[in-house]
Amino acid sequence: MFIQWSDAYAVGIPAIDNDHKNLVARLNHFFGRAQAGASVEELNSILGNLVGQTAEHFSREEWMLERVDIPDLAAHIAEHRRLTEQLRHFHESYHASDKRRELTVDMADFLSRWLIDHIVGQDVPARGHLRRLT
Ligand SMILES: [Fe+2]
Ligand SMILES: [Fe+2]
Repeated sequence: MFIQWSDAYAVGIPAIDNDHKNLVARLNHFFGRAQAGASVEELNSILGNLVGQTAEHFSREEWMLERVDIPDLAAHIAEHRRLTEQLRHFHESYHASDKRRELTVDMADFLSRWLIDHIVGQDVPARGHLRRLT
């Protein structure tokens, strides 16, 4: 469940890599606190924070992507939107659910998969373009 950072996830742009490492650290923090039996209020606030940090990261990354000529910019941005929606949806259902424990496991699994899949599938392939910014 815990994500181990790997150099294979590096884009080579410090601002982006630091954001990605921070998101991984926050997810791991969420898993760790969930496993330790933290209160719903605490887990909810960690999740809310993750939603905010993810949105900030996406806008920072999109600002950069818009300045280089990547061929699939629209698709990349659409994926950010989709992930943001799913994350918000999870946060809201978590808040409302009486089955929080099952939800936590599903969520942890889903979140770690989407984060790493997006980094490997979209961000890393764009690194040749993004490096022109530095
Ligand atoms: Fe991205
Ligand atoms: Fe990213």
